[in-house]
Amino acid sequence: AETRKYQFDVRMASVTRLCGTKSIVTVNGQFPGPTLFAREGDRVEVAVVNRSPYNVSLHWHGVRQLLSGWADGPAYITQCPIPSGGRYVYRYRIAGQRGTLWWHAHVSWLRATLYGPIIILPPAGVPYPFPAPDEEVPLMLGEWWRNDTEAVIARALRTGGGPDVSDAYTINGLPGPLYNCSGSRDTFRLRVRPGRTYMLRLINAALNDELFFSVANHTLTVVDVDALYVKPFAVDTLVIAPGQTSNVLLAAKPAYPGARFYMEARPYTNTQGTFDNTTVAGILEYEDPSGAAAAASNQLPIFAPTLPQINDTSFVANYTAKLRSLASAAYPAAVPQSIDRRFFFTVGLGTHPCAVNGTCQGPNGSRFAASINNVSFVLPTTALLQAHFAGRSKSNGVYATDFPAFPLVPFNYTGPPPNNTNVMNGTKVVVLPFGTTVELVLQDTSILGAESHPLHLHGFNFYVVGQGFGNFDPATDPARFNLADPVERNTVGVPAGGWVAIRFRADNPGVWFMHCHLEVHMSWGLKMAWLVLDGSLPNQKLPPPPSDLPQC
Ligand code: C2O
Repeated sequence: AETRKYQFDVRMASVTRLCGTKSIVTVNGQFPGPTLFAREGDRVEVAVVNRSPYNVSLHWHGVRQLLSGWADGPAYITQCPIPSGGRYVYRYRIAGQRGTLWWHAHVSWLRATLYGPIIILPPAGVPYPFPAPDEEVPLMLGEWWRNDTEAVIARALRTGGGPDVSDAYTINGLPGPLYNCSGSRDTFRLRVRPGRTYMLRLINAALNDELFFSVANHTLTVVDVDALYVKPFAVDTLVIAPGQTSNVLLAAKPAYPGARFYMEARPYTNTQGTFDNTTVAGILEYEDPSGAAAAASNQLPIFAPTLPQINDTSFVANYTAKLRSLASAAYPAAVPQSIDRRFFFTVGLGTHPCAVNGTCQGPNGSRFAASINNVSFVLPTTALLQAHFAGRSKSNGVYATDFPAFPLVPFNYTGPPPNNTNVMNGTKVVVLPFGTTVELVLQDTSILGAESHPLHLHGFNFYVVGQGFGNFDPATDPARFNLADPVERNTVGVPAGGWVAIRFRADNPGVWFMHCHLEVHMSWGLKMAWLVLDGSLPNQKLPPPPSDLPQC
């Protein structure tokens, strides 16, 4: 194992897309940002200098941060943001994970342009549990706004309405040829050789949309999700939610000289509201060694994939049901079999009343809100982890420890909504003793329409032991849980009009954020935190904060 050192200068850069130039926040002037490489077991040190005008913090999405919670990064949860002109060194170790993760800003909407891949290779000499690909290619799906994204969310929060939707999706920062004012220079191209195998390291870095992804005439074999191996399976199209990653193998055909195929991504959503219903395309092009096809190739059609309907919820359910952890001797599944604490959380949208009745731009003159068990989480003005470590109790007001384990007023979650959909504000956490085994059922509510919510848990991987449509039934559904080889991951879609059940062991002391990875839902309050206490052994305690930890 070695220590991988990176220097991240956060600074502004001018970038042109869709015929418009804007100043965006970047790392080292790159968009998307630089790739971080490590082998499983390595230490990572990222020295961040903030030369931008924004308060910035960076999160290493999916890195477990075992005993290194000070490096996790969500602003006001584990750290105060790095102020303009400030610096902070993120120090952590990669353990028990192999595949693709990613890093992104974790304050306001800065992750719109501040993101990059994390590539975790197996330890030296350890092979993949599948035939090694000839080449590996990171493929980041993103979202692009013509306007400044900080202005977009600021306006939405001021008016109470929904934010402007994006103007394009991107592959590795490029919108591709299907948009106006986006030419071949703005198109991601993957040049392939006949007969070779490519591993695409897919990352959904979009702010607000789950995406379908497909490559015309090629199947994709899924081998890894969220940096954990799965039992391989082949599909034409995969679905990937914001926050999720997936490694897929693509076998180039034996002879296709000069042939070109679109790879495309476009949203999966069943919301009634406005969303960006456009398609990003990149081009997979076969080498043409003889040059014979070159002259004709511009006249040849580029084949396009057929993606599912935009609201094809059953496609998504069938896809996610295929995901199984490898559960082999070398990579066993360690699903908690006995459970110490059970939780049932509703997740969904709701409303806050407007200061002057009927004057906001949300539903019926209200303000949009989003909540878990009716609590819309409010970020504190200091970091929860710092307050916890300093031993402050709830009485001095940084957080309360009474986050409800169950909804305060149960109702038919997938039927007509109750009359009062107002949600309460709060900065509440659940406290878990070290080592607690947790089962958590996440239930979508239909208060403002059923919607899929990609829930992300920091600090842990969890097993997805069950999912279903309708109301979760505690009397019958647990009997069908998969406790043998459920997929293990860090971000799971709560199905629209349905539920998902996860299990994890609280073996990582610290404060761990859990939130919807649709950025607008997080802005509206669909988030909460788990506070995991120290265990009694020395290696079960959160170390003290690093001396350069930013202060609020
Ligand atoms: Cu990918 Cu809390 O984040």
